[in-house]
Amino acid sequence: MPVFEKAFAKINLILEVLHKRADGYHELRTVFQSLALHDLILLDDAPDGSISLACDAPGLPGSRENLAWRAADLLKEAAGVKKGAVITLVKRIPVAAGLAGGSSDAAAVLRGLVRLWKISLKKEEMMGLAARLGSDVPFCLAGGTALGTGRGETVRPLPACPAFYVVLANPGLAVPTAEVYQAYRPLPERKRPDTEGMLAAIYAGDSEGILSRLANDLEGPAFTLFPPVERLKKRMEAAGGPSLLSGSGATVFSLFRERKHAEKLYTELSREGVAAWLTETETGKGEGAGVSV
Ligand code: C5P
Repeated sequence: MPVFEKAFAKINLILEVLHKRADGYHELRTVFQSLALHDLILLDDAPDGSISLACDAPGLPGSRENLAWRAADLLKEAAGVKKGAVITLVKRIPVAAGLAGGSSDAAAVLRGLVRLWKISLKKEEMMGLAARLGSDVPFCLAGGTALGTGRGETVRPLPACPAFYVVLANPGLAVPTAEVYQAYRPLPERKRPDTEGMLAAIYAGDSEGILSRLANDLEGPAFTLFPPVERLKKRMEAAGGPSLLSGSGATVFSLFRERKHAEKLYTELSREGVAAWLTETETGKGEGAGVSV
């Protein structure tokens, strides 16, 4: 029986870079939030024990280079499984956009293959495999609203964030994550993101408190390296919704309490020829909900 999974996009409501580590990664405190926008993953048995991948996005490798394929290889090896899988990936999340599309596909492959191959792995083992695939993959396995620490791979669930309508826009640039992290320089103390305040606002279900604390330490380097991203953020802010770079970019998001305001910005951007999406926050409790952490 084929298995179907949704791979949800994510944004970071706050992303605080603490310091650069000896291993080259950056120590973070970040609040991840799943979005309803998702890729579709279909997994079916391959009786010959092989892994294969078909993907509808022209720019994406349908080979071992694809993180979804690597997730299947890793799980097969870790669980000592002889079975194979045919992976079909329908992309809807923009690629290399700071929305964790590739990480979320990999997490969905892990979730789905556990069901297809009928294997049982402890939650910690699944999260460990996810962390080996990438810093954002453990969150994508869990979904919902969560605090990420370490390089982002240590995930603690948070109460569901109040619902927001989300407009995403992409300036059509593929921003390399490593390059943006490399260009990061610490900010003066008074400009630090207020992560404690953001967490308090989430625990209190305080929408205004959340909106007033959106912050991302990677905006500085991303805007310096890719000026059109900053121009896009300014354009979106002018529509009245608090806006922020997602992850290392290049996607910028705006949050709205009312759908009509989100629709207005989405329509305007689309008319201006900007690649835009209208979606909403996802609690992670619905269909496709992740591994509980
Ligand atoms: O973990 P992932 O493969 O997604 O990271 C991609 C790149 O982003 C890393 O090789 C590293 O250069 C950078 N990165 C970082 N600090 C993090 C996460 C990613 O420096 N916390």
